[in-house]
Amino acid sequence: MEEKYLFLFGNTPQLGLKELESFFTNCKVSVENLERFSLYVLAKTSVIDYQTVLNQLGCTIKIALVLGDDYDAAQLEAAIFQELKKGQQKVVFGTSSPDKSLSQQSLRVLKVEIKRKLSLTKKGIRFIDSPDERGLSSVVIAKEKVSEFLIFKPDNKFLLAKTIAVQNYEYWSKADFGRPFADPRSGMLPPKIARAMVNLSQECPCNTKESRTLLDPFCGMGTILQEGLADGFAVIGSDFSSEVIKKTQKNLEWYTKEFKPVKNFSLFTVDAVHLSQLPLSEIDCIVTEGYMGPTLEIYQEEVFTSGRTEKLNTEKLKNIYKGLEKLYIGSLREWKKVLKKDGKVVMIFPSFHLPKFTLKPEKIIDKIRNLGYSISYGPLEYSRFGASIIRNIYLLNNLS
Ligand SMILES: C[S@@+](CC[C@H](N)C(=O)[O-])C[C@H]1O[C@@H](n2cnc3c(N)ncnc32)[C@H](O)[C@@H]1O
Repeated sequence: MEEKYLFLFGNTPQLGLKELESFFTNCKVSVENLERFSLYVLAKTSVIDYQTVLNQLGCTIKIALVLGDDYDAAQLEAAIFQELKKGQQKVVFGTSSPDKSLSQQSLRVLKVEIKRKLSLTKKGIRFIDSPDERGLSSVVIAKEKVSEFLIFKPDNKFLLAKTIAVQNYEYWSKADFGRPFADPRSGMLPPKIARAMVNLSQECPCNTKESRTLLDPFCGMGTILQEGLADGFAVIGSDFSSEVIKKTQKNLEWYTKEFKPVKNFSLFTVDAVHLSQLPLSEIDCIVTEGYMGPTLEIYQEEVFTSGRTEKLNTEKLKNIYKGLEKLYIGSLREWKKVLKKDGKVVMIFPSFHLPKFTLKPEKIIDKIRNLGYSISYGPLEYSRFGASIIRNIYLLNNLS
């Protein structure tokens, strides 16, 4: 039986889309992009284990099953009613229209009419309003056991989908805030972004069973390493600071105790440009967020280091960026010694978006080609709103 599923992305749709494409490479799954809705339609020949799939993804927040895609308004209402009628005596439901094809007023009319009809057969009927057009949060859907209906209008007919899986908010919250050690100054990655990066590094993780090794040579607090463990990798982390490695050790011990991954981790203190000092070879993939320079603070159009301890003029900023370029190129040259042929590198290169000018990683990307890597894709941008440093994620392939 062919089913169609919608994958809804959070705040990073571009990354969510690539993660999903990467995730389903080589699976017999046909995908259709409805990019203008920031969501993805997936058609498949058999029913997927949707909660397991969702638990493996970082940037998909919901999966919904398409109930029909050629409804007029009356059929839409009838389809929702029929779906709710099937369930238990108590009904909790919500509706939203992520593409805004139905106005708030039309959604209200729909709700009232469905409630009226349901009241003839059901005892307790509760409707939960969505905070915005994107629909209800994962927490509300899971806790209140809400039947959520999503309504789109890709052409002149309505598409109706029912949310069937939501992100495991308990896992993500624990994976982020439950760790013994955090270091906001060095710019820790959100675990969901780290997971998406891990997924970009592999073709079709849902099919891969053999043992794979993931390395993060700028591991910091170990966010990428923990999400690598979650994805079934044996992970190796290194950082040039022994103080950092002590904390990473505690974080990953905590993670292992909490989530019992099947594979192990090992950690080393070493500079990323001297990585081949370690007894490593045949690494499957390197997933990393390198050092990104000092934390910058913008005040009245001027750039300072954190706490406004030092003002950074244009020349100083350009030198900082040049230093980063040198570090990344030196590291990528070194990593070829331990990475498998065709091994992947998923790496973040920062760009600085400053009041008077911008510094982008274009030169680094040019040089990377000369080192013997091909650029599979990038940049996929990630940043917090208003941030002056944007993270550009690239996927590289080791050619030799
Ligand atoms: C941006 S942080 C990584 C944060 C990490 N992704 C996380 O979520 O915790 C960069 C890390 O690189 C380390 N570092 C800086 N220069 C390095 C070098 N040359 N070799 C190895 N590690 C380095 C720093 O100690 C820092 O922990």
